[in-house]
Amino acid sequence: MQFKLTGEQLMIQSMVREFSRKVIAETAMERDQTKAFPGENLKKMAELGLMGMMVPFEYGGEGADTVSYVLSLSEIAYSCAATAVVMSVHNSIVCESILRFGTEDQKQRFLTLLTAGKAIGAFALTEPNAGSDPVAQSTTAVCDGDHYVLNGTKRFITSGKNSGVVIVTAKTDESKRHKGISAFIVKKDTPGLVVGKTEDKMGLRASDTTDLIFENCRVPVEDILGSEGDGFKIAMTALDGGRIGIAAQSIGVAKAAMDEAIKYAKNRSQFGQPISKFQGLRWIIADMATEIEAAWQLMLSAAAMKDRGENYTAQASMAKLFASEMANRITAKALQIHGGYGFTKDYPIERLYRDARVFTIYEGTSEIQRIVISNHVLKDKRKP
Ligand code: CAA
Repeated sequence: MQFKLTGEQLMIQSMVREFSRKVIAETAMERDQTKAFPGENLKKMAELGLMGMMVPFEYGGEGADTVSYVLSLSEIAYSCAATAVVMSVHNSIVCESILRFGTEDQKQRFLTLLTAGKAIGAFALTEPNAGSDPVAQSTTAVCDGDHYVLNGTKRFITSGKNSGVVIVTAKTDESKRHKGISAFIVKKDTPGLVVGKTEDKMGLRASDTTDLIFENCRVPVEDILGSEGDGFKIAMTALDGGRIGIAAQSIGVAKAAMDEAIKYAKNRSQFGQPISKFQGLRWIIADMATEIEAAWQLMLSAAAMKDRGENYTAQASMAKLFASEMANRITAKALQIHGGYGFTKDYPIERLYRDARVFTIYEGTSEIQRIVISNHVLKDKRKP
């Protein structure tokens, strides 16, 4: 059954589509080459309410539902996947975690900054030796009077350099496994928080991915998120929402790739006719459209479950798994349709192909999504 969007959801989608194709698309190709962070565009997005979409009005947000949010994120990703990942981590993970687990004081201090676009949010969970297994992290937070003192290195942090507010996890009690992990909200200018190396990535080049190094970084006790030991649960809850966001990002990029392939196929003639007339190619396009539609329905269904307050962990993983793998298949096929031109930087498909590659990796690899899904389907928990 086709998912029926409300009038308001359709209006938001159409407004973001127009903005994205007019403003965001304009510099996407150039940013891929220069790696210039889309700071000005993110400010414009904040003015449109895209940097605090699901945050209530009282904290400067838009009070939108998750469905409207993923529709918007997908539209931004259609034009620039690098801008979309910044929006995704900021909204799905950082704003949502503070909204859900923060104190009133934290909401007033941090959400108002984030929704106004005065600070970009980053999420620091991963470490050099703790990726798929975040319980193995070694960053520590030791309580010292009215501060926690953080030490350790976080890796692959989206917006590590350009963020203003970071949610970081650290061990407060080594003996308690995941229950010994806590989460903290840290302002970027806190002494002892240093930006380490910036990764030179294959795709999403306009979004900075860096190390964040905590060297005796003193965080006020009032900036712990939730209580001591809540950090792992906060991270997992945040990633459920984040994974629907990565599905939206994947769908945006896949749609852009299909549209590029169609445009190229209609304009390119070989053997006396546009190549779009060849059945072999038409069937590829038909499969692309079908796969995008399937991913679309999975994404909307997971988002609607979240909006209804249901447990959507497995559906978020299914949407992320299917959409991210679909985006990789579709960008590869779309590049193939471009022939030799697809291998050059003259056409956007080359960037879309590179950008899509990380979708099956970050916010939980495809393998991690299969663990989450199989645990739910089989109704017994197996360790990875
Ligand atoms: N929501 C709420 N709680 C959850 C949960 C969820 N989705 N998943 C697990 N939990 C809780 C469990 O209920 C359990 O709590 P109790 O002990 O109270 O029962 C606790 O967490 C531990 O659960 P598990 O034993 O299942 O945990 P695990 O160690 O076996 O790990 C995992 C499970 C799914 C493999 C998890 O480690 C995981 O998701 N790993 C991938 C990490 C990841 O996605 N990293 C991405 C980095 S962030 C990023 O990429 C952002 C970016 O910048 C783009």
